[in-house]
Amino acid sequence: MEIIIQSGKEEASLVAARLVARRLREKPDLVLGLATGDTPRAVYRELIRMHREEGLDFGAATSFNLDEYLGLAPDHPQSYHAFMRRNLLDHINIPPERTYIPDGRTTDVPAHCAAYEESLRAAGGIDLQILGIGGGGHIGFNEPGSSLASRTRIKTLTGETIADNARFFDEAAEVPHHVLTMGIGTILDSRECVLLAFGEHKAAAVAHAVEGPVSASCPASALQLHPHVKVFLDEGAAKKLE
Ligand code: F6R
Repeated sequence: MEIIIQSGKEEASLVAARLVARRLREKPDLVLGLATGDTPRAVYRELIRMHREEGLDFGAATSFNLDEYLGLAPDHPQSYHAFMRRNLLDHINIPPERTYIPDGRTTDVPAHCAAYEESLRAAGGIDLQILGIGGGGHIGFNEPGSSLASRTRIKTLTGETIADNARFFDEAAEVPHHVLTMGIGTILDSRECVLLAFGEHKAAAVAHAVEGPVSASCPASALQLHPHVKVFLDEGAAKKLE
């Protein structure tokens, strides 16, 4: 693991965005793994700026998102489909038919998850996966206790994640309790991973992920098993590292 600590979130996000841009220039048909939530927003903002001002070209790229709330239609404002359109996909030239996000409306979860894994395989696998981390150590929505070999499937959110994500909804009662998420095994299949974490509230999870034992009690610690991981932190998120 390579740990890159910057003074603040904006600085770290710029460095991370430059890495994504470099990979895209090296391989225009890059397969990008994308995350939602607060953490990657500044990276996406910078990618949009580079697309508009520097001609960064997503025309041959493909994207796969980590997760989606079960029960939310793509046009629900809090769905991850809507988040991705608002925060990145509508503002770059990636072909919409090559942007994959699990469908929260599915009525056949196992078949939908198997088809998602099949689409990933057919696309040649993820070249670069962007990840955030939950305060409890989740990546994607692989909550503590998730199998380190897991594939795309349904998961139940912990009370902590529901409370955390309530900030995106009008009230906590609206946060769906079930999600579809790539598994930890799916994430580890990516050729390169970029983990972003900002703020002191992430420091304990980051310390466990980076320096703790590899354990399902902190799913992000599974990244220690991956040969190509870069961790971008601000000073707050790095506070508990030895
Ligand atoms: C979202 C995802 C989650 C978030 C994590 C951190 O697609 O995969 O693992 O990255 O919950 O969320 P934020 O960035 O909102 O703190």
